[in-house]
Amino acid sequence: MIVSTDAELNHFIFQQEGKLFLCCYMDSFVNIMGGQSVVAIHGSLHKYLKNLTLNLFGSESLKGRLLPEVEDVTLKHLQLWSTQTSVNLKEAIATMIFDFATKKLFSYDESRSGMKLSESYAAFLEGLVSFPLNIPGTAYWKCLQGRKRAMETINDIFEERRASPREQQKDFLDLLVKEMKKSESILTEGVALDLLFVLPFATFETTSSALTLAIQFLGDHPSALAELTKEHEAIVRERETMESGITWKEFKSMTFTFMVINETVRLGNIVPGIFRRAVKDVDVKGMIYNSSRVDCYGLSTSSSFEPCRGKELSAGSCNFMAFGGGARLCAGAEFVKLQMAIFLHYLITKYR
Ligand code: HEM
Repeated sequence: MIVSTDAELNHFIFQQEGKLFLCCYMDSFVNIMGGQSVVAIHGSLHKYLKNLTLNLFGSESLKGRLLPEVEDVTLKHLQLWSTQTSVNLKEAIATMIFDFATKKLFSYDESRSGMKLSESYAAFLEGLVSFPLNIPGTAYWKCLQGRKRAMETINDIFEERRASPREQQKDFLDLLVKEMKKSESILTEGVALDLLFVLPFATFETTSSALTLAIQFLGDHPSALAELTKEHEAIVRERETMESGITWKEFKSMTFTFMVINETVRLGNIVPGIFRRAVKDVDVKGMIYNSSRVDCYGLSTSSSFEPCRGKELSAGSCNFMAFGGGARLCAGAEFVKLQMAIFLHYLITKYR
């Protein structure tokens, strides 16, 4: 295995997805995520799944539907936490995002369900990075058990919906069921189930880490907090009606906020390594990659929190690969930005 922290090389490798290099994670990781999950599939099926995912998490959906919904959920949770003596922020944000994502994906409501999906994901997460020894008692075994239980729950919901599909599309599962019914559909039951399993995890664990870190960084950097406060207070001041929520235009105008978010995600190293395999012999910078597995690290060259650096960072560019790059660029990058910006807006303008 080759480990690369060379930004230029990593960027090149990401651009070569499906040509010279291919996404390739360890078997132990693929077993956890699912053999038919997005990390294990390539080519046209990958492209198709990416588009399906963007149908829910991409800009059009954020602008058209999700913005007010994310706003509503965020406001309710901040209000709830303000009545409590203390809050474990990472856990509380993860729960908030998990509830939101599973509702949008398959109309799951933990408070009304006898199935504790969040507990299955918690067990799954504990062994996510562990020695892959699958015997009872090991962290890896517990992780696979968590996946198994989560899949049972998701499968029940899936079967029920497939047996009685809804006329009108209300969640992501409705879309999947509709897609599967099309003649010559490439979406199989296994692929759909693995996608429904991976997306909640991809959403709540990563975004909650990023938001918690952002709040910590802002607490440690009063000048960045002051600049951010200035930006959000100006948005509130210029709002025509005080009761109206954040508009798309306001969201798009949060320039310094995006710098804070980018800088946080850059420093957070939330997805620590990205794995690729050379498809054939490739000569890059004088090194021959011969079916080797390459682990690309986007490790920051600077470990200090300086949001102003963020203005040069656009996701997938050579100097910002925390969301990966090329054809495999993170499908949730825009959602992360929206959720973080909305959260920071209300935290700063309504609370101390
Ligand atoms: C701060 C939060 C996040 C970070 C740092 C992050 C990072 C990444 C990275 C580095 C990749 C590329 C993996 C590779 O190339 O092998 C990726 C892919 C992906 N991410 Fe995220 N992610 C985040 C949040 C999310 C969210 C909220 C979603 C929800 C939709 C999501 C869904 C995905 C999906 C579906 C892929 C696979 C894309 C593909 O293979 O084409 N991520 N993410």
